[in-house]
Amino acid sequence: MTYPTTLSVALGDRSYPIVIGPGLLTQPEWLEPHIKSRQICIVTNTTVAALHESKLRQLLDKIRPDGQITSVHLPDGEAFKTLETLATVFDALLADRHNRNTTLLAFGGGVVGDMAGFAAACYQRGVDFVQIPTTLLSQVDSSVGGKTGVNHPLGKNMIGAFYQPRAVLIDLDLLQTLPDRELAAGLAEIIKYGLIADADFFLWLENNIEALNRRDPEALTYAIKRSCEIKADVVAKDEREGGLRAILNFGHTYGHAIETEMGYGTWLHGEAVAAGMAMACELSVDLGWLEPDVLKRTQQLLEAAHLPSKPPASMTAEAFLKHMAVDKKVLDGRVRLVLLKGCGHAVITTDFDPALLKAQLQRL
Ligand code: NAD
Ligand code: GLY
Repeated sequence: MTYPTTLSVALGDRSYPIVIGPGLLTQPEWLEPHIKSRQICIVTNTTVAALHESKLRQLLDKIRPDGQITSVHLPDGEAFKTLETLATVFDALLADRHNRNTTLLAFGGGVVGDMAGFAAACYQRGVDFVQIPTTLLSQVDSSVGGKTGVNHPLGKNMIGAFYQPRAVLIDLDLLQTLPDRELAAGLAEIIKYGLIADADFFLWLENNIEALNRRDPEALTYAIKRSCEIKADVVAKDEREGGLRAILNFGHTYGHAIETEMGYGTWLHGEAVAAGMAMACELSVDLGWLEPDVLKRTQQLLEAAHLPSKPPASMTAEAFLKHMAVDKKVLDGRVRLVLLKGCGHAVITTDFDPALLKAQLQRL
């Protein structure tokens, strides 16, 4: 494979490149075209800053030796994905007199990316930003597609905007410091793309899961690239989630119920989605839409990726139903689910007998 490898999110005059490869933070040519002025604001968190900010600083020194660089270190964690924390980004931008030509660099996982993107959407009614994702999950999912925002005490990701970055720069070297559990959480989203859109990719994942677990650069590059291609294609067809884009939430309705019931942070998002995908496959089998063999293969692949293939033992049918009833995808009182009609073919549907869902949950 030649490095870096590049693809595009096709959104007319808002189209942007996704560049994937090792060593991108040592190669000025990928970031330089997206910096409009000497003002740059790095938005990161305390963990990523300690591990990797010096490399980004060295790159900016090469691109803009005369640069005025502001750096905001957010506290680490989903609990800080709030309007209060977001305000500290605006405080820094205003204190350092950043104007409308400034560029924000979202340098972190999905929490940082969603917040920096939302800050860019709001600051002076919109300034440029570049995603430099540092977790596997953010490299294959949250940095692409322009969903930005923060949580509200009454709901996750409830305040936000669709706002696309100017570029997504995925430097594989950043993954070297990622904890194993966070790597596995990213693999869950990668497995999702195979199940919803590409049966051949699912087969490739089955054959290459050990290479991915040991962070083989070639295997990771291919898996990230194929995931981003699938996401970019869906986003290009349905940027604002009028319909199709909801397939990206495969496993998430069950998964959100697990996350909420267990308390955020007990199970990582990717872990809850993994169990949720196995459950969505199981219901698809119960409906006669999916061959039982695909369910078995999915469970085996999740386990090989060190992910759960079942919900936690403490989850009851009542807990699932309570949380699923308030999911964003509920339509006119009916739970809408993303299910499979064959490996690689997701559908968004209310067209199933709710008794089958109930029976599935009561088997737990
Ligand atoms: P995260 O941002 O919390 O990162 C996970 C942990 O890894 C954090 O402790 C972080 O500091 C640490 N970390 C980041 N990079 C590291 C590195 N290179 N080495 C060592 N540690 C590192 O979590 P996440 O899984 O990246 O993202 C989850 C968030 O993404 C959620 O808020 C979710 O809502 C959001 N999300 C958004 C979208 C979207 O389309 N916008 C899609 C999926 C998820
Ligand atoms: N992660 C779901 C989406 O981007 O639509």
